[in-house]
Amino acid sequence: MLSKILSISALAAAAQAISISVASSGGNATSAYQYGLMFEDINNSGDGGVYAELIQNRAFQGDNIFPKSLDFWNALGGAKLSLQNLTTPLSAALPTSMQVTGGNDSTIGFSNVGFWGFPAIAGWEYKGSFWVEGDLDGNVTVCLAGDDNVAYAEASVEVSTSSKWTQYNYTFSPTVSAPNSNNTLNFTFAASDLTGAVNFNLLSLFPPTYKNRENGLRVDLMDAMADLHPAFFRMPGGNNVEGVYPPYWWNWTQTIGPLEDRPGFPGAWSYENTNGLGLLEYLLWAQDLGMTPVLAVWSGLFLNGTFLAEDRLGPYIQSALDEIEFCMGDASTTYGALRESMGYGPFEINFVEVGNEDSLSSGGPSYTAYRFNAFYDAIHAAYPQMTIIASFYDVDGATPPFNAAGDFHEYAIPVQMSSQFGYFDNYTSAHPLLIGEYAVVEYDQPGTNEPLWTAGAGRAFMPFWYGSVAEAIFLLGAERNSDKIIGASYAPGFQNLNRWEWIPDLISFDANPAHTTLSTSWHMLELLGGTRITENLPMTITDGEYGPAYFVAGRSAVTGAHIAKFAVYNGTESFNLTFAGVGAGATANLTYLTAPMNASQPIGGNIVQTHEQTVRAGRNGVFSFKLPEYSVAVFNVAANAAGPGHNYGNAGNRHGWKGWKSWGRDKSHHGVLNQWGQTL
Ligand code: AHR
Repeated sequence: MLSKILSISALAAAAQAISISVASSGGNATSAYQYGLMFEDINNSGDGGVYAELIQNRAFQGDNIFPKSLDFWNALGGAKLSLQNLTTPLSAALPTSMQVTGGNDSTIGFSNVGFWGFPAIAGWEYKGSFWVEGDLDGNVTVCLAGDDNVAYAEASVEVSTSSKWTQYNYTFSPTVSAPNSNNTLNFTFAASDLTGAVNFNLLSLFPPTYKNRENGLRVDLMDAMADLHPAFFRMPGGNNVEGVYPPYWWNWTQTIGPLEDRPGFPGAWSYENTNGLGLLEYLLWAQDLGMTPVLAVWSGLFLNGTFLAEDRLGPYIQSALDEIEFCMGDASTTYGALRESMGYGPFEINFVEVGNEDSLSSGGPSYTAYRFNAFYDAIHAAYPQMTIIASFYDVDGATPPFNAAGDFHEYAIPVQMSSQFGYFDNYTSAHPLLIGEYAVVEYDQPGTNEPLWTAGAGRAFMPFWYGSVAEAIFLLGAERNSDKIIGASYAPGFQNLNRWEWIPDLISFDANPAHTTLSTSWHMLELLGGTRITENLPMTITDGEYGPAYFVAGRSAVTGAHIAKFAVYNGTESFNLTFAGVGAGATANLTYLTAPMNASQPIGGNIVQTHEQTVRAGRNGVFSFKLPEYSVAVFNVAANAAGPGHNYGNAGNRHGWKGWKSWGRDKSHHGVLNQWGQTL
């Protein structure tokens, strides 16, 4: 019965067009950061994911939470492998190494299984290295070997007996690709070349990295993010910034410098982080993708609820100040000079978040009583221009607890999120909000209006299409309030298909790049975030109402285009749309996405269909078109297609548009550059 009622109302909606007229000025301010990214090392998305290192457990790191082990290593030829804490370790940060002693065969060694396999791709130039100490004198063969016994790539490294740790480098490049990623990396040598014991540590192998950076990031995953044109980057967490329990918090000082000096960190997501993906790598990642960092600093709360007393906060506040100085200080400052010594100039930091979800566990009272203000006062005194963000916020209109911006997280189910188009309309605080995390996490199910968070209870393995459309409605609601909303970021960003704790995620992957899966929400975001409104324009609905279609409209100061964005939920909708100043004969490009309502992406595949249509304005400049049920659309009237009477003036520089700074390019003429500032 219910479905009958729904389909009748859907038909009614389809029968009558909604009429929308968009004014040429008077909209609320916009933010330059509407669509962004949040990242933490969850689901093996840093180590084993974006961080391109291919060897798992490369330096035998561990601690009280995740004890050191020989996991992911196997002996070859009957060799004996053991962990050793030598009197002369590789470094203070990496005190444990792997010792190899004699075996049964004439060729012995060990192999690593990688992060559940290794990609062996023809033409890729791999760069590797390892440290050795001990009684080995001869050639070590490093081989990328398939489970079909094919050696896809091989290098030979001449090693000499030494009581000093020595680093050796190797490179190789497969000439044919392996059919899958069921490959191991084997290190072998003649048993006769080993006269006693030999010790190995920090064994590394990198494929080509994004922008060829040393210690860099995985190309296909970076490309997938770049395609979303994210404007901000919240890092390094999430729960991961907090740490599981004392004394483990995301201590930035242990994430910089040579890899031999990074001890690792027991992440919040059940595995040791190598810290190869450290503060500088995060900053370079932001820089390479043109994102403004939102730097989360530790606020004195551990995930198990332990928090610091007020009189113990001092060193951690100083550490946060040092961290900011490391990021943006010039060479005359202590930590700016340290960064310069590593070869990098200052990075601009405009946003700092104090902690993560400090209202949870037993954190809230101490955060509101003293922790937030202690960090805020110190950071604000040193950097008065900085937007400082509290890690939770009261959105529902009661007095905001902090005299600062807030971070709002929303994990929901579709029925809930699709009803949140107006969620931020009544948010009246003087302080802006970052939507630092949001996602539809479960399918709708009877009897609940919010996630059940119970194992198996409707939790989605990957985003699914009607959930993605619900997210789009929520996002458009945020975008039309972008005078108060800094921007929004889906979370979490990535899922390693071989080891994950949190589903659903924006992008799924494994060791085989052919399996990289861009979720339905990724496609929704590519469309909505890929078209940037820099000037919101007020809309009047002259006939009809919101639902099943939700929309925002505005202009791009970069291209001069008029833009409208739509999310259509449970019912088709016809539109009569006008933009003030756009006349009869103007042409628009309508791009919309559809997919089967309940569908998620197949691994490595795509069920989201992109439809392109040209719409010509009829009499009085009315654009008439229709959008199907469960669709997301962008309507774009390019400046040079806007027809007679179009007013080319006024694009940009109004209503709080934060200008070109974040995009860093000269936009002095309209219609010549695309929205990303590239010459057409
Ligand atoms: O995004 C996954 C987790 O959800 C984040 O680590 C945390 O901030 C939130 O609870």
